[in-house]
Amino acid sequence: MTEEEFYGTALPGLKAAEKLLLNLIARYEAAGEESGKDRGEHHWKPVAYCNSRIKAPESMMEKLRRRGLPETAQAALTGVQDAVGVRAITSFIDDVYQLAAWLKAQPELTVLEEKDYIASPKENGYRSLHLIVCINEGDAAGVRAEIQLRTIALDFWASLEHQLKYKQNIRNEALIRSELKACADEITSLDLSMQTIKDLICE
Ligand code: GTP
Ligand code: MG
Repeated sequence: MTEEEFYGTALPGLKAAEKLLLNLIARYEAAGEESGKDRGEHHWKPVAYCNSRIKAPESMMEKLRRRGLPETAQAALTGVQDAVGVRAITSFIDDVYQLAAWLKAQPELTVLEEKDYIASPKENGYRSLHLIVCINEGDAAGVRAEIQLRTIALDFWASLEHQLKYKQNIRNEALIRSELKACADEITSLDLSMQTIKDLICE
């Protein structure tokens, strides 16, 4: 099933929300680079890269089914928060929190919920900051989206860990999970050290 077939007349609003969020983050990046230049600093890129997507119909229908909701565009908009997803990847942990704070202050959106899996990691080691937002303006007004913020190292981990979801009857699953948890712990330590080094350089 195509996006148009599943989301129908809601699709333009979802696309507008995705675009608005990407534009907002681009504006943040541009402002960060300008202010670095003003201070005569070698600028740090405040965002390393961004990804975004409209949740694929199959995956949305599977999620709605799992939650006992009807497999309709209406339910996808109201019962689930991540029909629109944007992910901003930063080099450093501080950049995650600075971007989150900036996003919260923008009139174009309202933050409905914040899930800080960096401060409180999931049991498997997953660490990211999630903002569930509602867009306030234009064609996307009323549309909800999930913004995921994390470091490059955490993103690297999450993309590997994500592969487990699609595999069935994995041999050595317990070993893989414990190795992933060990990597997540090392990444926590690595991210902290990198932040400390950066702070020392900027002192
Ligand atoms: P779903 O997990 O999407 O059903 O939503 P939820 O309400 O449980 O929210 P949660 O914050 O747990 O997850 C939202 C999204 O974050 C997921 O769809 C994934 O993209 C990502 N995510 C959450 N937990 C993990 C994890 O353990 N590993 C990876 N790789 N991604 C995760
Ligand atoms: Mg979940």
